[in-house]
Amino acid sequence: MCGIFGYIGPQCDTGLMVLDALRRLEYRGYDSWGVGVAVNGHVQVTKRAGRIGDASVALPEASIGFGHTRWATHGGVSDENAHPHLDCTGRFAVIHNGIIENFRALRARLEGAGHVFRSETDTEVVSHLIEETVRDSTDPETVVSAVRTVFGMLRGLNAIIVLDTATQQLVAAKNVSPLVVGRNENASYIASDAVALVGHVDEVHYVEDDEVVALSASGVRVYDGQTGEPRPVVFIPLTLQPADTSLGGFDHYLIKEIHEQPRVLRAIAENYAEPVRRLAAMIRESYGSFLIGCGTASYAALSGAYLFSRIARRHVNFAVGSEFKYQEHFLTERSLVIALSQSGETADIIEAVMAAKRAGARVAALVNVPGSTLDRLADFSIHLGAGPEQSVLSTKAYTAKVAILMLTAHVLNGSEHVGREHLWRAVDGVEQALAPASERRVQEIADRIADQEHCFVIGRGLSYPTALEAALKIKEVSYIHAEGFAGGELKHGVIALVEDGTPCIVFSPLDETRDDILSGAMEMRSRGGFIIGVSPEAEEVFDVHVPVAEVGDASPLVGVIPAQLLGYYLAVRRGLDPDKPRNLAKSVTVK
Ligand code: F6R
Repeated sequence: MCGIFGYIGPQCDTGLMVLDALRRLEYRGYDSWGVGVAVNGHVQVTKRAGRIGDASVALPEASIGFGHTRWATHGGVSDENAHPHLDCTGRFAVIHNGIIENFRALRARLEGAGHVFRSETDTEVVSHLIEETVRDSTDPETVVSAVRTVFGMLRGLNAIIVLDTATQQLVAAKNVSPLVVGRNENASYIASDAVALVGHVDEVHYVEDDEVVALSASGVRVYDGQTGEPRPVVFIPLTLQPADTSLGGFDHYLIKEIHEQPRVLRAIAENYAEPVRRLAAMIRESYGSFLIGCGTASYAALSGAYLFSRIARRHVNFAVGSEFKYQEHFLTERSLVIALSQSGETADIIEAVMAAKRAGARVAALVNVPGSTLDRLADFSIHLGAGPEQSVLSTKAYTAKVAILMLTAHVLNGSEHVGREHLWRAVDGVEQALAPASERRVQEIADRIADQEHCFVIGRGLSYPTALEAALKIKEVSYIHAEGFAGGELKHGVIALVEDGTPCIVFSPLDETRDDILSGAMEMRSRGGFIIGVSPEAEEVFDVHVPVAEVGDASPLVGVIPAQLLGYYLAVRRGLDPDKPRNLAKSVTVK
């Protein structure tokens, strides 16, 4: 839930460089930040509650530094609780991503032994434990071994980086929470996401769970986390380019990423025949398949369940990632778990996948971040190829997942060419939905409903998951309460909330749901609802019509676009930051 970054190399304005890297990691958490550099045997720290924004740091030049952007878990949002956290002597400093589940017991023991704590965080136990374990030794290998020992004492899914001023090194270890190391001829870097390394290095090493890594002036060393034996370190090329992480002329990442969808879908239509056939074969060979995901990825998974049922006449189970553990008793060696995740780091998904593997089941992943934990755990991965999502809201990864699942359903049905044809139509449809005139129409709707407190979204069949995703897109960024539900559920409760002027979004593709969903729209309109119809055809019941292309089974791909735009324009109109909604973080690496 936090972003971490470290540097070791030639002396420079390290503080500024770290701050710049933290800005790229801010999507992982943005309630506070901190930077530490090693100067004259001590760590000098600047740390603050609040967003990085235009902050600057006035720290001395240094050859080692690191920093952290926080999403608070233990301890409120305050300057003291921001990372780094120092030991009693000021020799060691620690930054951390995760939750140390047993920190209370560790802290009580350390306090009993005389350690004075300055924060309420779970993290601070690490710096004191390192101090206690290393004592006065200035042997670099002793420090590496101390980090190995101390990390072994921590329960939970964690990544830590320890800065030791005496041995001039950064030592890191992880369990599930991601860490990636990069190097060039002069310097070494470490971060929780390769996005922070773009522009610094051309090759990276994704740290494994059973490794400890040490960065010093002489380069990167990797050790076996169990035995402490040195290991060979394998670097692979970093494929991300600086353009992938820039705004490219847009005002915000959210709108940039919404506009990238035609490109992403086109690449899937052109290049994904082989991986999709392989996924279809895995489903065919399995006895019981389960689609899982969290948040937006869960709606893509649910969309997949409908697509498999409708197109391939095949029942594929669906579970929300965090609920899977209460339903996993039936897993066998013949089961297949298809895990959907943009980041590949969502803790609930990783836990579900590990449970599946323990049961001997196979795991397929639809994942956007190559090298992520899910990517490495899966027996087979399809990379979404959407490029980095830097807005906290997931958009292009969602449509990429739905497109891949739709193609897979068609392969299972023996109608691969139809799937591809529908996807090509959807590429055009998404382009139309993003054309200036269409975007303006959504902007006008946003202006009209920006002061509303509630918004309801209905869809049936394939459009039901779209309604859920549309409501999520609107509420998480505009803070308007938006509720998506199956059109048939209207009369079972929700209609009681529809009042004069309440915005009601209705997904009405030209499929078998059309008559029923339009009568639901009529029922809402009769109670004063302001009906926003997303449909290839105008209908009398719509107060406003948002035209979308008719694209057959690919209707979820075009239907969601106006909702993504609406979320964006509502946020802008309400003066909110569309890329960093309050309380949210991009990768939910804690349970
Ligand atoms: C919503 C959103 C979240 C994520 C969810 C899963 O816009 O971004 O709901 O979809 O946290 O994240 P991933 O896909 O990284 O597993």
